[in-house]
Amino acid sequence: MHTITLDSATDFDGWRKAARLLALNDVQPQDVTWTVRGGEPELFAAEMDELPEATEGTFNVPAKFVELAKAVILHRNPERFALLYRLLWRLRGHHDLLNAATDADVAEINAMARAVHRDEHKMHAFVRFREIGREQKAHYVAWFEPEHHIVELAAPFFAKRFADMPWSILTPDVCAHWDGHEIAITPGVARSEAPGEDRLEETWRRYYAAIFNPARLKVKAMQTEMPQKYWRNLPEASMIKPLIESAERATSTMIANEPTEPHKPQQRQDAPMASKARKTADETTGTIEQLREEAAGCRACPLWKNATQTVFGEGPQTASIMLVGEQPGDKEDLAGKPFVGPAGLMLDRALGEAGIDRRKAYVTNAVKHFKFVPRGKIRLHQKPATPEIRACRQWYERELAAIKPDLVVALGATAAQSVLGKITPINRNRGHLIEQDGTKVLVTVHPSYLLRLPDENAKALEYQRFVDDLKIAAGWLRRSARAA
Ligand code: URA
Repeated sequence: MHTITLDSATDFDGWRKAARLLALNDVQPQDVTWTVRGGEPELFAAEMDELPEATEGTFNVPAKFVELAKAVILHRNPERFALLYRLLWRLRGHHDLLNAATDADVAEINAMARAVHRDEHKMHAFVRFREIGREQKAHYVAWFEPEHHIVELAAPFFAKRFADMPWSILTPDVCAHWDGHEIAITPGVARSEAPGEDRLEETWRRYYAAIFNPARLKVKAMQTEMPQKYWRNLPEASMIKPLIESAERATSTMIANEPTEPHKPQQRQDAPMASKARKTADETTGTIEQLREEAAGCRACPLWKNATQTVFGEGPQTASIMLVGEQPGDKEDLAGKPFVGPAGLMLDRALGEAGIDRRKAYVTNAVKHFKFVPRGKIRLHQKPATPEIRACRQWYERELAAIKPDLVVALGATAAQSVLGKITPINRNRGHLIEQDGTKVLVTVHPSYLLRLPDENAKALEYQRFVDDLKIAAGWLRRSARAA
């Protein structure tokens, strides 16, 4: 009898090395016991012995087996090491064994690999970060309880998606930490060490409410996708019931109401909308709701083709301040609302510190479709080009004519280019009010610029400068309200 002790529950290299030596020494699967260092010893296992001596010789297994084994080793089933060795043993004499879908071992290994990948996807979907620390020193921490040992597998996804924010994902098995450069893995912790409620909860709830579409509600599918065991760590879970109830109410009201004219289907050809897109503010000032509806079919540049939807401006038509960003990002494209992602969080916080209530501001973007290049599962933001900014400017002009704000704040170079109609370097033009066709304009940086700064001190300084710029806007609004 041989007892093999692996270094950890996910020690694939240790398992592979041991399995290779055992197989080369013709050690039968039933003569091997697998354990993990620090784990419970097997009740009837023989004394732990050394690995067999290295033997000359080699054998090949299909690449598919190695791929499956790497996933299956992350499954929590304690029998996984033995199952994998048994399959490896059998594969030596039956190279096509993995194609035998009805074989019990093959079926089991496939099911286990699927379970691991499902758990990985659930982790991607259900990790919710909470902010700890203050402002620029903020660190984002999440608590998650994976079903399998998937933290190291899933962590690179978060490093890519939240590359700009330092985060930690705490789990009972291991914890993953990202400092903006690399992922570090440390031992697991108890749930009591995870942070509780914070203001990000509210943001998640707002985001969830924003993307919740009652027309697409399928309660059963939603409960399958978001099993209840994940709910206790999800800030939005408390909203699911009220949102479902309000969706039911909305549906009943819709059924009770008179039928309305159907919306015109979106034309896929460019011509009609392209000509509409050339209308100026003077020709077609409408309410924001009318403009939003019209812009939903905009084909004035090719960006609509890959975007989910037009992300139009949002806020009261009586707003005295209009904030203009660059273009919707990944989250905005999905939600159909501007500044609801990480840059929006940063903006909200800075506005709050400057004394500006976002709910009273009209928030929009210079370009109203998300421009990106796909990179695997990620959609990488791309800066809009001048023709795209020009094509979209008519919407900004018409929003401006509808809102008639006292002040426009251009966030970043693209917004400044659109608002002022020419390339406008931010550093040379920020911090003072510029007169543009009878409207005051303040130019400042884009919040994403702050998120991207790798140096913490620079980030803190730049954030303060951003807040100071917004305070100039707040001061002007107060003065013009008093003068009115
Ligand atoms: N960046 C922007 O410029 N606008 C958004 O709406 C989101 C991110």
